Amino acid sequence: MENKRLVLLGAPGVGKGTQAREMEKNLSLSHISSGDMLRDAVRSQSRLGIRVKEYLARGDLVPDELMMSLVSERLQENKCAGGFVLDGYPRTVSQARALDALLEERDLPLTGAVLLEIPRNEIIRRLSMRYTCDTCGETIKSKENRENQQCPNCGNRLKRRSDDEPRTIEHRLGVYEELTSPLIEFYQCTGILHRVNGMGTVREVFQRILSALNLN
Ligand code: AP5
Ligand code: MG
Repeated sequence: MENKRLVLLGAPGVGKGTQAREMEKNLSLSHISSGDMLRDAVRSQSRLGIRVKEYLARGDLVPDELMMSLVSERLQENKCAGGFVLDGYPRTVSQARALDALLEERDLPLTGAVLLEIPRNEIIRRLSMRYTCDTCGETIKSKENRENQQCPNCGNRLKRRSDDEPRTIEHRLGVYEELTSPLIEFYQCTGILHRVNGMGTVREVFQRILSALNLN
């Protein structure tokens, strides 16, 4: 398989993280999640973490320059040389331009952008059932309140993400519409956009991604 350098696009809760993990496992791509990087920073109370904490809690985007320097550092790591899938980055047209410039410098342009699509009511349903483990990153779905219960993977505590409260979900969806959805046209114009239906099981969606990228 030729090296794949991919971007996963889509509204909050469409399954970007879930599918990026499948791609990492099955296609040996390096998974770069901007949201996970920021949440790690908040957890470790680094200077960056202190600076971005409020943006995340409000569901607002962190400043472009900050995001770009974090991601470009990560892209330079050796493990990205065999291909990568970016999850949550870029999120504005200016981030997309900066990414293109960085990859062009190295003669390693993006090979595809996958847009996951699900209806809005399903987004809200999925996010209101999500519990994550702060320690190992495990994500589980539950209709019952699992806050502070044991993580089935490592035994530590499950939490809801601070931005998964109903009002913050609405805000994140608004931010997506305004600032991120223009990327759909951006990647359509460069001819690398693939639209994928994100409804169905994780496996079904993954199979659709493979078909869209001609990988099966
Ligand atoms: P980020 O962490 O990227 O959050 P997001 O885009 O809002 O998306 P989510 O992680 O909530 O959802 P997802 O699409 O990954 O879905 P998931 O697989 O978890 O960003 C968080 C914040 O960081 C931003 O608000 C911003 O502040 C900041 N930030 C990040 N990047 C930035 C950038 N580039 N610039 C500036 N700021 C940035 O799935 C959701 C749920 O559905 C899970 O429970 C999952 O188990 C379930 N699920 C998944 N697939 C299925 C399926 N097929 N069927 C049923 N359930 C499913
Ligand atoms: Mg995610």
